[in-house]
Amino acid sequence: MVFSYGQFVSGGVGKQLATSLGLPRPSRLRRHTVGGPLVPGAVLVAGHGDAPVAERVHHLLEGAGVQVASQPSTSVVGVVVDLTAIETPADLETLRGIVGPALKTLAPTGRVVVIGRPPEDAGSVARTAARRSLEGVVRSIGKEMRGGGTANLVLVAEGADAGIEATVRFLLSGRSAYVSGQVFRVGQPVADIVAPADWDQPLAGKIAVVTGAARGIGAAIADTLARDGATILAVDVPAAGGPLATVANRLGGSALQLDVTAEDAGARIVEHARARHGGIDIVVHNAGITRDKLLANTDADRWDSVLQVNLVSILRMNEALVPAMNDGGHIVNVSSTSGIAGNRGQSNYAASKAGVIGMTQALAADEVVLAKGITVNAVAPGFIETEMTAKVPLATREVGRLMNSLSQGGLPVDVAETIGYFAWDANRAVTGNVVRVCGQMVLGA
Ligand SMILES: NC(=O)c1ccc[n+]([C@@H]2O[C@H](COP(=O)([O-])OP(=O)(O)OC[C@H]3O[C@@H](n4cnc5c(N)ncnc54)[C@H](O)[C@@H]3O)[C@@H](O)[C@H]2O)c1
Repeated sequence: MVFSYGQFVSGGVGKQLATSLGLPRPSRLRRHTVGGPLVPGAVLVAGHGDAPVAERVHHLLEGAGVQVASQPSTSVVGVVVDLTAIETPADLETLRGIVGPALKTLAPTGRVVVIGRPPEDAGSVARTAARRSLEGVVRSIGKEMRGGGTANLVLVAEGADAGIEATVRFLLSGRSAYVSGQVFRVGQPVADIVAPADWDQPLAGKIAVVTGAARGIGAAIADTLARDGATILAVDVPAAGGPLATVANRLGGSALQLDVTAEDAGARIVEHARARHGGIDIVVHNAGITRDKLLANTDADRWDSVLQVNLVSILRMNEALVPAMNDGGHIVNVSSTSGIAGNRGQSNYAASKAGVIGMTQALAADEVVLAKGITVNAVAPGFIETEMTAKVPLATREVGRLMNSLSQGGLPVDVAETIGYFAWDANRAVTGNVVRVCGQMVLGA
C-alpha cells in the first residue's frame, strides 16, 4: 500500500493525531460538476464607494440563478468585493470591514474574489499604493482560508468592466478549486466577447489541439475541453500511439502521432486539422519533459532536450499555427511554478518554463496575434498528481503535496479547468496572463 499523509489524517487515529498536534488536514475541494449550480449557496457582493463592478457582478449572478446577499451568513459561500474605487490606503478599511466578518461564517470551499484596478494605471502615488496593497491582502486571505476555500484578485483595467464575467464565474465556480492567491488581469477584449448559449458547454463547436495528450495533464485537458463541447485533435509521440488513440477515440476526436520538436510539426498539425476538422480555434501547448540534475552535472544533451521540447518547439510550431488559426482563437501554454520560483536540480526545466512565460507575454502583444483577436495565456501548475510526480521519492512527494494553502496536491483536471477558462470566447478580455494552479504553493512569488 502506498502511504499518503492526506489519507492518513482523514480519519481514525491519524485524524486524532493531526487535530491534537495542529497538523494540516486537507479538505475535500469543490470541483465543477456538469449541470451543477455555479456556487452551492449565496454570494455576498459589496464594494467601496460607487463600486461600479459590484453592480455588474450582482446582475450576472442573478442571471446565473445565484442568490446575492448583502450580509455575512452561514449560507454565504462566496464574497465578491469591488475595490475599484479606492483612492488611498485608508480606503482599504472597506475590505477589512467586509471580508473580515464574512470569513467567520463563510461555508467550506468558500471563495473570496477581490476586484481592483491595475496599480500601474493609478495616476497618483497614494492610489498606486492602495491598489498594490490588494495583492498582499488577497494572498494573505488565501493563506487564512479554511475548509478548502480560495481567495483571488481580479485587476480590471479602466473601461474594461464589461469583460469580467468569465473570470468572476471561473473564480466562484468549482473550476478554480486549486487556484488561490492569484492575480487575474482583465483588459480590453482582443475580439468580441461571446457568452455561450450554455455555460456548461462554453467550448461548443470549437476545435482544440492538445499536445502531450496521451496521458497525465494532457489527457485531462483533452477530457475537460471535450466535456465543455470542443472537438479534440490529440497530439503525442509515436511511442505513445496506443494511449493517444484511446484518448482520441474516447472523445470522438482525432489522434496525430508527432514529435513536437520536428521541423514540420506545426505544418503537420495545420494540415491534419484542416483535413479532419476544418480549422483550429484553440491550441494547448502541454507536451513537456524533465531531465533533472544539478546544473553542475547537466550535460549539453540534458540541457538541450528539455529546452527543445518545452520551449523551442512551441516557438517553431506557432509560426505555422498562428497564421492558420481561426480569428478569435486562444493559445494556452503550460509553464510551471519551477519557471517562476526556480527549483534545485531543474535549471534546464526552469529555463524552459520561464521562457514559456516570456513567450506568452510577448505573443499576447504581437501585432499579428492581436489583429486576429487571439488570446495567449499560460498556466503554471504546482504539485499535480500525475505519473511524473508519483515517481518522486516519498518524503519529497509528501512535502510537495502539503506545502500549499490547501494542504494537498492538485489533480490534472484542476490544470485543465484553468486552461478551459482561458479558451472561452467569453474570455477574450484576458490575455498575457500567467496563472498558477498550485493551491498557493509556499515556494516562489
Ligand atoms: N505534473 C506536475 O506536477 C507538473 C507541474 C508543473 C508543470 N507540469 C507540466 O505539465 C505538462 C504535462 O505534464 P505531465 O505531468 O502530464 O507529464 P507526463 O510526462 O505525464 O505527460 C507528458 C506528455 O507529453 C508527451 N511528450 C513528451 N515529449 C513530447 C514530444 N517531443 N512530442 C510530443 N509529445 C511529447 C509525453 O509522451 C506525455 O504523453 C508538462 O509541460 C509539464 O512540464 C507538470
